[in-house]
Amino acid sequence: MTWGRIILALIVLSVRNGDGFPNNKLEDAEEDVEPADFDDMVEDETEGRNGTLCDQCSQELCPEAVGCRAGVVLDRCRCCPECGNLEGQPCDLDPTANTFYGLCGSDLQCQIDISDLGLGEVPEPQCMCKVQEAVCGSDGRTYMNMCQFKATAYSTAGLTVKGNGPCQTVPLIKVPPHNLVNVTGSTVAFLCEVFAFPMALIEWRKDGNDAILPGDDPHISVQSRGGPLKYELSSWLQIEGLASEDAGTYRCVAHNALGNIAASAVVGVLGPDEMSAYLSENMTEMLEYDQPREYDEDYY
Ligand SMILES: *[C@@H]1O[C@H](CO)[C@@H](O)[C@H](O)[C@H]1NC(C)=O
Ligand SMILES: *[C@@H]1O[C@H](CO)[C@@H](O)[C@H](O)[C@H]1NC(C)=O
Ligand SMILES: *[C@@H]1O[C@H](CO)[C@@H](O)[C@H](O)[C@H]1NC(C)=O
Repeated sequence: MTWGRIILALIVLSVRNGDGFPNNKLEDAEEDVEPADFDDMVEDETEGRNGTLCDQCSQELCPEAVGCRAGVVLDRCRCCPECGNLEGQPCDLDPTANTFYGLCGSDLQCQIDISDLGLGEVPEPQCMCKVQEAVCGSDGRTYMNMCQFKATAYSTAGLTVKGNGPCQTVPLIKVPPHNLVNVTGSTVAFLCEVFAFPMALIEWRKDGNDAILPGDDPHISVQSRGGPLKYELSSWLQIEGLASEDAGTYRCVAHNALGNIAASAVVGVLGPDEMSAYLSENMTEMLEYDQPREYDEDYY
């Protein structure tokens, strides 16, 4: 960075802090996007965007756009090349009217995520991959779409597409069942969430008992359905009217043509007195029990 640029940067920064700055929406917008490093911000302002004024475009003054994982697009002044926004980053539904967030990168389009509507969130337009088809990478990972593959391939030497569709894999357990303790007569449920291609089947068994649950046991029930994500299956084992003989280890077994995998969890059954003692003694432990597990949604 030359001294001239630094001085210009300081001028721009002091203008930005002043009350008379013409477009304070620029600052609002920048809070929502990924934090840029200080130098990048300053260079954008001084050279690419020249403040918020788009009156004249001198492309020879544009900074080089580097490290663009979703390709290069034109900046808000339609002048300088800059990095296109990645999947999941905010964008402007009508960039011809106004561009605060910048344009989506290649293979991406700006749209409102309808899955946000159900959650009572205010839906924000975000960049989404135009084609939602999974691909299998040469690293053996399934990428839920080409945009996610390209973003990873950008920084992973030698990563190629091995095939369309997810990688064929033995099932992977994404959410295993958790150990439970409850009082006699209560209702408990285990969840087992599996990713697999080809699709998996899930069975529940109790250790020491060969039968597949629920069998003909009316107080045990099993429900499975596809989801929450594509190529996933969720299965619940529910025990109603918990009795002492229900105590034991339950196993969720997922299998497809390529193999099978299992995860197990223990249910403890306590009488009412034992239960209150357990609760007072083990409260902190219980609270730590069911922390949502973090996992990577991009690929497995
Ligand atoms: C950038 O802004 C300066 C004033 O700060 C102005 O003189 C110059 O013409 C602008 N350059 C471009 C490319 O718009
Ligand atoms: C324990 O039983 C109660 C009553 O059936 C139920 O509401 C609660 O979710 C159960 N707790 C666990 C951890 O399963
Ligand atoms: C509290 O939990 C521990 C292990 O998790 C168990 O050994 C102990 O018996 C529990 N306390 C009561 C009162 O059940």
